[in-house]
Amino acid sequence: ADPSVAPQELLASPLVQIQQRSALPLPIDLYRDAQGRGRLNSSGLDLAVPAQRQTLLDALHACEVQTLTEASTEDVQAAMARLQAGAPGWSATPVAERAAVLRRAADALQAQLPQYCALLVKEAYKSLGDAIAEVREAVDFMRYYADEAERLAQEGVALQGRGVFVCISPWNFPLAIFAGQVVAALVAGNAVAAKPAEQTPDVARRCVELLHAAGVPGSALQLLHGQGETVGAALVGAAPTAGVCFTGSTQVAQIINRQLASRAASGAVALPLIAETGGLNAMIVDSTALPEQVVDAVVQSAFRSAGQRCSALRLLLVHEAVAEGVIEMLRGAVQELRVGDSALLATDVGPLIDDEAFNTISAEVARLKREARVIAEGRAADATARLLLPLAVELKNIAELKKEIFAPVLHVVRWGGDVDAVIAQVNALGYGLTLGIQTRIDSRGLRLADAARIGNVYINRNIIGAVVGVQPFGGEGLSGTGPKAGGPHYLLRFIAQPGAVADT
Ligand code: NAD
Ligand code: ALA
Repeated sequence: ADPSVAPQELLASPLVQIQQRSALPLPIDLYRDAQGRGRLNSSGLDLAVPAQRQTLLDALHACEVQTLTEASTEDVQAAMARLQAGAPGWSATPVAERAAVLRRAADALQAQLPQYCALLVKEAYKSLGDAIAEVREAVDFMRYYADEAERLAQEGVALQGRGVFVCISPWNFPLAIFAGQVVAALVAGNAVAAKPAEQTPDVARRCVELLHAAGVPGSALQLLHGQGETVGAALVGAAPTAGVCFTGSTQVAQIINRQLASRAASGAVALPLIAETGGLNAMIVDSTALPEQVVDAVVQSAFRSAGQRCSALRLLLVHEAVAEGVIEMLRGAVQELRVGDSALLATDVGPLIDDEAFNTISAEVARLKREARVIAEGRAADATARLLLPLAVELKNIAELKKEIFAPVLHVVRWGGDVDAVIAQVNALGYGLTLGIQTRIDSRGLRLADAARIGNVYINRNIIGAVVGVQPFGGEGLSGTGPKAGGPHYLLRFIAQPGAVADT
């Protein structure tokens, strides 16, 4: 305990909540449920119920991942021409009808939850729990954006599309982020060229088929599978492209930004880019925090999903008065994690997505182990390929953290003195996606949240798993352009702006 803090300042049950930074005001009821339950949230499967668990295991047994052929240059040109021709008709479809299509798709997805979960486990190596949460999130996006489109239309906003929107998504949420981008662009009235990550095309293919079956015409939605440098770049550069929605690494967002800027430099109209990117996410633990709560939040945020979440914790900043206790407890917790085959119910941490990620990150880990003090390292429970063992290392200062390692790797830095200096250093990292604050002094938590230049700030809880419609998600600085996904301003960025000049 910190002797500088008077006992009467400490709360036994401190505030647990999420703070949102947003350029536009957010309705206050978005904050109401700090645990993340909202009116829209779809139902999942309960793995503790034997019959439901069996349904999932049966689906897993039956699931086969299909290989897809990559789109050629001609495929891209033909798809874009078809979408350009189809865009006006889709934009003229009444908003209520477009919203109804999304709701039909949501119902169909909900009905096939076990099959989609199985595909997420087999194609993206998701744990069963993560797979369930991801299908639910995709359903929630569909229902939320359908409601939002109708709300905006009722408020007199003209939901006319910009034309053909290119949606480019990552492999780590190959259904939820893929579907979220696509249905937002569609319900706003755009035709969509959807480019999933090259690692996870089959779940995207199934989702596009589901949307077509729900009533989205082929002339309003096309799937273009392939490498980012070829298919992705061709889509960004295609003449009919009227906007780009991208989720992925900061580096690729910068490449796309430059490509769009060079289009504009050669006389074309400037196109909108919505980019949701990476993070160097920190958790600040002060001397009053509850160590058990801290370690639970750290394990969930840094190691679950094998650290392959943009929101995952990368940097634990722990006050020197409590550091030894927290580190000791963390060491024990890491040893308890079951690291292995993600298809097993007992697994906590599954493998990395592919060999390329595993080899690059293994080299980073080897460097870290040479240069920093290892605090904790997990152990493998089976012989699954590409298992990166959960690792926590201690750094001397925050500035040593240079880039996102997309894996279960945590950096720990001790601090003393002024907590305001700590938040200033976190801001100076330049990223701004998620932040955790652990304190039993409510006023301090709120003050730090105010000072943070970070999109989603979580107080006294984990920092992952934002809930659609309740916790709009998105960063600032190097972490993204906004508007926040799953929030009330998202669709506005996809609609035609009066006075905009068409691309030539
Ligand atoms: P990535 O940037 O490598 O790839 C993302 C997508 O971009 C893929 O579809 C890829 O094919 C495509 N792409 C690559 N080069 C391209 C180019 N030159 N032109 C056009 N498209 C191109 O990211 P990833 O490895 O798939 O995903 C992990 C990254 O995504 C992490 O950095 C993570 O933090 C970030 N992420 C951010 C969020 C968020 O909401 N902020 C959510 C999930 C993931
Ligand atoms: N929206 C996801 C999360 O909050 C990435 O973890």
